[in-house]
Amino acid sequence: MGSVLNVRHAGAAGGPAQAQPGRALSPKFSDRLLAWWDAHGRKHLPWQQDRTPYRVWVAEVMLQQTQVDVVVPYFQRFMERFPSVRALAEAELDDVLHLWSSLGYYARARNLHSAATIVEREHGGVFPRSPEEIAALPGVGRSTAAAIAAQAFGERAAILDGNAKRVYARHWRVSGAVSSAATANALWKHAESCTPTRRVADYTQAIMDLGATVCVRRSPRCGACPLHDSCAGRAAGDAERFPEPAVRRARRIERRRFFVLADAHGACFVERRPDTGIWGGLWSPPERPAAMSAKAFLASVGCDAGLVRRTSIAPPFKHGFTHFDLDVRPVYVWLKQRPAELSGDGAWIALGEHRLGLSAVAARLLAAAATFRLEPNDGA
Ligand code: ADE
Repeated sequence: MGSVLNVRHAGAAGGPAQAQPGRALSPKFSDRLLAWWDAHGRKHLPWQQDRTPYRVWVAEVMLQQTQVDVVVPYFQRFMERFPSVRALAEAELDDVLHLWSSLGYYARARNLHSAATIVEREHGGVFPRSPEEIAALPGVGRSTAAAIAAQAFGERAAILDGNAKRVYARHWRVSGAVSSAATANALWKHAESCTPTRRVADYTQAIMDLGATVCVRRSPRCGACPLHDSCAGRAAGDAERFPEPAVRRARRIERRRFFVLADAHGACFVERRPDTGIWGGLWSPPERPAAMSAKAFLASVGCDAGLVRRTSIAPPFKHGFTHFDLDVRPVYVWLKQRPAELSGDGAWIALGEHRLGLSAVAARLLAAAATFRLEPNDGA
């Protein structure tokens, strides 16, 4: 395991690697990673082109909980619609949420919108440069702020996203649940000392790329890793054991009914959800307790039962959130005609012909309404 000792760690940020008696000189961590990235890293992601602070910021927020290939089309549509921080600040929140529809974690969109107004109002429209100022914006934590500062401004700032955590935890066999403060502190120390003073943007991308393509969660490709010779996890043969997962609590399941009121043309009634909680500020078919009957629901929104042509219960499906599963129980209510008025903050929309923000579940419920409508025996 002599090779493990070759890695320079403390103070590895600057200066050349130093020879130690009796040991071979090996290039330092960041040099090996950068050389690997030059040959194998991702260089054609949309936010790497025409790199402005605004584009980098939007991309990093979208990438917080979402994979690159999912983000790319959302990022491109977002940039077409809101090409500058000012355009975003001046937009209606509904328009922003509309472009975020089905991307999930909608607080990100609300925070982005509110941060854009802060950049306009408090920073004169100029995106702040230091990691501390960037981290003060809503929706930007320490790692995201560092990723933005490094990639947009070349500031030396260490990131510690999920990919970087995996690489550092394995390389130094950092034990302890990844969610614990002690483990996080240890990992941050490694991140700080490995981040170089030059080529910080490339290093930032490189550590994420290594974690995403080589030091992957299961069956890491250690043979292809530029850090192979100094990786303590690889040397001990237990790299995959790190980082140690957080202790999992049992996931709860929430069963809820969703009432999809559809008019004779297939337009559906949606309600605006409260700003807090799941799908905050988005629009959805009314969600109610699982035990509520269609009759009770219709009475509660002031819909005359005489307007109902047919009611049908569709198969339930699950939708996973970070901490629980939603057991979605759809009830379709086909109306002969729309009621003159329904109580609550609602709208009638046809799928594909509106500009509101819909969750993936709402879009699925509405898409099913459109499909049922096309069935020949429906509505008879
Ligand atoms: N995850 C977070 N930021 C990323 C980036 N810039 N490239 C790829 N994956 C990422």
